[in-house]
Amino acid sequence: MQFDLFDATQNKILEAKTYAEFKEALAKSGCTRCALSESRRHIVVDRGNPDANVLMIGEAPGENEDLQAKAFVGRAGQLLDELMRQIGFDTNRESLIINVVKCRPPENRVPKQEEVDACRPFLKKQIELVKPRIILLLGAVALKHVISEKRDFSMEKEAGTFFEHQDFPGVKFMVLYHPAFILRDPRKKPAMVEHLKRFKAYWDQVR
Ligand code: URA
Repeated sequence: MQFDLFDATQNKILEAKTYAEFKEALAKSGCTRCALSESRRHIVVDRGNPDANVLMIGEAPGENEDLQAKAFVGRAGQLLDELMRQIGFDTNRESLIINVVKCRPPENRVPKQEEVDACRPFLKKQIELVKPRIILLLGAVALKHVISEKRDFSMEKEAGTFFEHQDFPGVKFMVLYHPAFILRDPRKKPAMVEHLKRFKAYWDQVR
């Protein structure tokens, strides 16, 4: 019975015609598709502007995100905002920021494959509704789970590169270091700033 009830809720989320409808339905769904539902406080759908043409995809909500029900509001999010501000980009106005999984993994561990798979229909629906021109993949977990062929890769090589993918026609991807990685290893910050400048030069042409 419980399962039937969630099935109906899930259909409502996945059949949403607008992003606002989708967001409200998912946030209130009480989703139980994976074990992360047992420990989360909130389902974290996003932060920013769903009408923007830039979509940023991170890994999973952390503690602050879980408390506030908003993506990238902790230290990593603040660093991301600051780095983007330096290139003249307002993350709340000019992008939508989401995660591969919408619920916080205990102790901020990396999400398991089955958790990512359980959340994938929601990620797909977000991309479908937002129709971004540019997707910025924040970190290795986002790259690995959004681009299925990417299994063995080095972030040193991938970060800062643009590419396209047949499953996402009309979308330009760029891989970036995850801001939490920059917090752990600030020596990578100048490289990240370079990558962001490259992104900004491209975005200036297409917006
Ligand atoms: N790290 C992420 O990948 N996502 C968040 O929302 C916060 C930190």
